[in-house]
Amino acid sequence: MTSLIAVLPGDGIGPEVMRAGLRVLRAAADRHSLDIETREASFGGRALAETGAPFPSSTRDLCLEADAVLLGAVGLPGPPPADPALRPEQGLLNLRALLGVYANLRPIRPLPGASDASPLRADKLAGVDLIVVRELTGGVYFGEKQEGDDAASDLCTYSSEEVERVVRYAAGLARSRRGRLTSIDKANVLATSRLWRTVTGRVIAEEFPELELDHLLVDAAAMRLLTHAAQFDVLVTENMFGDILTDEASVLTGSLGMAPSASVGEGRRALYEPIHGTAPDIEGRNLANPCGMILSVAMMLELSLNSPEAARDVEAAVAASIADGVRTADIAGSATTEQLTEAILARLGRSTP
Ligand code: IPM
Ligand code: MG
Repeated sequence: MTSLIAVLPGDGIGPEVMRAGLRVLRAAADRHSLDIETREASFGGRALAETGAPFPSSTRDLCLEADAVLLGAVGLPGPPPADPALRPEQGLLNLRALLGVYANLRPIRPLPGASDASPLRADKLAGVDLIVVRELTGGVYFGEKQEGDDAASDLCTYSSEEVERVVRYAAGLARSRRGRLTSIDKANVLATSRLWRTVTGRVIAEEFPELELDHLLVDAAAMRLLTHAAQFDVLVTENMFGDILTDEASVLTGSLGMAPSASVGEGRRALYEPIHGTAPDIEGRNLANPCGMILSVAMMLELSLNSPEAARDVEAAVAASIADGVRTADIAGSATTEQLTEAILARLGRSTP
């Protein structure tokens, strides 16, 4: 059966990293005999310019039909449109809500070579292999907003069901890994965090008693990610804490440009996107690091195209290229986007018989 992939290159460096990602996807699909069809649609700032909306209905229809959505980055340089509904970022939030992808997986695994570029000492990076599960369709991102000239408010709400489903997902992941789950909240201040902590404790006690569960306040978690990251296995947290902590955690990999993500929910639909933004300062200059996108393609190969072999193949090719010194400027190298992509393509399949 053919898997349909909706391709949304988006804005800034989105299209250039998408080109790299699609080349690797096609090569991996060929090697592993996967039947895929890709269809592109406009999204974000580009869609706003072309159609007057960041998430036009034709793109929406394609995303609903697709088995997976692959996204570059969205955002516009300069002042945002006055109407919040027209902001490219709002299009992204609407896409996540439409697909129902409440669990956003952000693995952080420093690769030898790339992490040389990290401002953290090597001993802080040794043994780091963690994954943040960020709740993606609730919390303050989706609460009621009031915006006036003198006052504004953003409501943060969570229901116990919203907490349960993402905690269950994270717990399942922890069970398949090292059995440690860290739940991050701000229960000393926030009511939503107290609900989060209670529900998490209950789900783990009732359904995953074999796991080792810790609760950590978000400020302490921010510190421990830099001081003791190797102690973490799976972290689960609400939407905004997850957004902030994963940009921070990407420093462990050497660069925000290295970090991939996958967003999944109940059904077959899933969304794959690097965690970096549009980087307008380097747009169109062949300087962007394509690894965040290519590693997102690997996550798609595993989770949506059911080919963990193809995923391992792509990950090994990325690791080998970086280890061989083919690195973009953000990870202390001088390779272009295309040179690093070529290096990855050349190494694809070398490590698997
Ligand atoms: C991310 C991004 C988005 C978010 C922005 C672009 C809305 O920072 O995916 O981490 O905050 O979720
Ligand atoms: Mg972010």
